[in-house]
Amino acid sequence: MEKLVVELCMGSSCFARGNAQTLAALETFLKEEGLGERVELVGHLCLGACSKGPNLRIGETTYHGLDTACVLDLVSSALKEMGARA
Ligand code: FES
Repeated sequence: MEKLVVELCMGSSCFARGNAQTLAALETFLKEEGLGERVELVGHLCLGACSKGPNLRIGETTYHGLDTACVLDLVSSALKEMGARA
């Protein structure tokens, strides 16, 4: 099964700006929704855009300034899109 690669920046800037909480929420969300097998969650040391953080990359696209709710929405949408393509 194709996995959605979600790269969450865990560098100090993004971590302090909210990705610490987002990581916890994302892990809980994936577990509760039974999506752990469909998502490969990767931590990054720095995505190279600290001033625009917190940052997240899904596939080839990097997203900036995301709060936790936005991250969960983006991951849900990307999974739906992937399901529609499969
Ligand atoms: S710490 Fe996240 S982009 Fe640098």
